[in-house]
Amino acid sequence: MQDKIRNQWEKNAEAFSDLIAGIGTPHHRSILNPCVEELVGDVRNKKLLDAGCGEGYLSRYYAQKGAKVTGIDLSERLIKTSQRLAEGANYIVTYRADDICHLESVTNDEFDIVLSNLVLLNIPCLESALREYHRVLKRGGHLVFSIVHPAFNFYGPGSWEMGEKDPESGRRQGLYFKVDNYFDEKEYERYWKTRKGEDFPAPISFFHRTLSTYLNALVKAGFSITEFREPLPIDNDEFFNREMRIPFFVVIKAEKT
Ligand SMILES: C[S@@+](CC[C@H](N)C(=O)[O-])C[C@H]1O[C@@H](n2cnc3c(N)ncnc32)[C@H](O)[C@@H]1O
Repeated sequence: MQDKIRNQWEKNAEAFSDLIAGIGTPHHRSILNPCVEELVGDVRNKKLLDAGCGEGYLSRYYAQKGAKVTGIDLSERLIKTSQRLAEGANYIVTYRADDICHLESVTNDEFDIVLSNLVLLNIPCLESALREYHRVLKRGGHLVFSIVHPAFNFYGPGSWEMGEKDPESGRRQGLYFKVDNYFDEKEYERYWKTRKGEDFPAPISFFHRTLSTYLNALVKAGFSITEFREPLPIDNDEFFNREMRIPFFVVIKAEKT
């Protein structure tokens, strides 16, 4: 399974890096990232693990804010891209390839913060990843992670019923969101689109789980949940009409007590 997932991200590395473009998509910038930043809090002189860092833009962002950051990803190509994008910077960030299901390169009680942004929905090993996050955190340290909201998950059993294209925003109107088989926890493969609207070279695996599976797994791993957020877009932009009506993301902060 890990080989399949690694291959998907290796094949999609360039398309994914182009999509993120060092800043994230409009959905990241206007809905997710401000909430994540609020929950991550003051990072100055803190050791932060960016678990599943992708092309590493959040690692670079928090390193600029004064954190000592390590970014880890399964994809060697994404790690190479991350390293290239941080070359010559006046902050320090270390990137290396490793598997968050078994974090071999990280010792116990090493980090103040583990950030895992839009990763846990892409891995088959939720429980072992959370155990690893717990192991590498110092006592009193925090995990902040985000996922696409599992109850309204179009990378899983849901989708919008679409209406006409809005001439101003260029987006199709969402009539209503339909969801079925919420309790059917399984893998879905989906193709993402490039900025030009073409399919990525390979599908991406998404592991649909109920919200209770995530929350119970956190508790089982030894975490106490301190924040639970369903962030709204930061500005009342008509472009995000659909995202004002149902939550797109979930962001959770949990403490190693
Ligand atoms: C949707 S991307 C998110 C990347 C980044 N956190 C961001 O916000 O842009 C999911 C990332 O998880 C990585 N990934 C998947 N399985 C992994 C694993 N077992 N260990 C480490 N990284 C993994 C993928 O290579 C990919 O870069």
